[in-house]
Amino acid sequence: MPRVLVVNGPNLNLLGTREPEVYGTQTLADIEAQCAIRAEALGLEVEFRQSNHEGELVDWIQAASKDFGALIINAGAFSHTSVALLDALQAVTVPVIEVHLSNIYRREAFRHHSYVSKAADGVICGLGGAGYRLALDAIAETLTGKSS
Ligand code: DQA
Repeated sequence: MPRVLVVNGPNLNLLGTREPEVYGTQTLADIEAQCAIRAEALGLEVEFRQSNHEGELVDWIQAASKDFGALIINAGAFSHTSVALLDALQAVTVPVIEVHLSNIYRREAFRHHSYVSKAADGVICGLGGAGYRLALDAIAETLTGKSS
């Protein structure tokens, strides 16, 4: 069964209470639970992680090609700042999908550029937690040829 790594960056551990008018009221655990259900239906295995530390995210990304068949990443604010994450992602050999809960293009100008996007095969933003599930759908189509 193809394994998918879902990597979440800084402050996403605060979902549910963090700026609910921007990010909604779902917690990261809620999103993880919904992803597990969707992954099972799609014949995928999903592993969900979150870190506030750039270096830890780099370590996870570096290991992704070896241990997983695809990577979903919401790098949070590091999306807009981190060349280190971009470099790590450019070395990844499996499909990469970037997700943002909010529509970063409707927000402050500094959120309009994402280093992650340069290394991503696809980008989903503005659809809240559903974006993660849609990313899994896209990965299933790519990896198993199965569409939902
Ligand atoms: C975010 C958007 C980023 O600009 C922000 O820094 C986040 C969350 C999103 O999911 O909408 O932390 O990645």
